[in-house]
Amino acid sequence: MARNRKSEIRAFIGGKGSGKTYLAIREARKARRVLVWDSVGEWTDEKHLRDAAHFGDLRELARHLQSGGRMFPKTVVVARRDDFLAFCSFAYKWAKTNPGKGQSLLVLEELNAYVHSNKRDHQFLDLVDRSRHASLDVLMIAPRMYGIPLYAREQVDRWKIAQVWSPGELAKFGDEYGPDVRDRLSKLPKHRFLEIIKGQKP
Ligand SMILES: Nc1ncnc2c1ncn2[C@@H]1O[C@H](COP(=O)(O)OP(=O)(O)OP(=O)(O)O)[C@@H](O)[C@H]1O
Ligand SMILES: [Mg+2]
Repeated sequence: MARNRKSEIRAFIGGKGSGKTYLAIREARKARRVLVWDSVGEWTDEKHLRDAAHFGDLRELARHLQSGGRMFPKTVVVARRDDFLAFCSFAYKWAKTNPGKGQSLLVLEELNAYVHSNKRDHQFLDLVDRSRHASLDVLMIAPRMYGIPLYAREQVDRWKIAQVWSPGELAKFGDEYGPDVRDRLSKLPKHRFLEIIKGQKP
């Protein structure tokens, strides 16, 4: 029997309109099993993920399940700030109870708005830490790399980073990845991303 590939933690980073959601939707279309935390209702337009079930918030999804409704292979849940940590716990259970085995994909839009970079939100931490045991790929989306908490940043296997404008942020990239990466990031054309893979030279 074919072995599942290793689970991945990915992150798409870029400013407004840089194409993060566009890329994420492409991933979600390819995946067989997807759960999306949709920050501003970008995914609710059904042309984006036609074959997905859409829920206005986590409570609406919970009511659907409590009344005997099934979980769809692709589900979009519109974010509510107070629901994020409960959503993390839900997402982990969802990945664990995968009847078809294989990989699941979790997309977390605008993560920076829901986790504090200097607070350890354990439901989120657990989700990231244990995702590999649940054959779960996690795709985190944020405007800035440093908006993702350090403990989650350290787990990222694959970054896709759009053009960086801020001198302060460019300097941090320079410190972390060297001047070549810093210069490439400053000059990226529209809708292009620089990929950085853990353990490989960017
Ligand atoms: N590679 C691409 N080719 C063509 N069009 C693209 C590409 N990437 C993004 N776009 C278009 O650019 C616009 C902005 O993209 P998108 O919504 O994905 O940006 P975003 O990074 O998610 O922005 P925001 O931070 O506002 O959510 C959309 O209309 C999208 O269709
Ligand atoms: Mg977006």
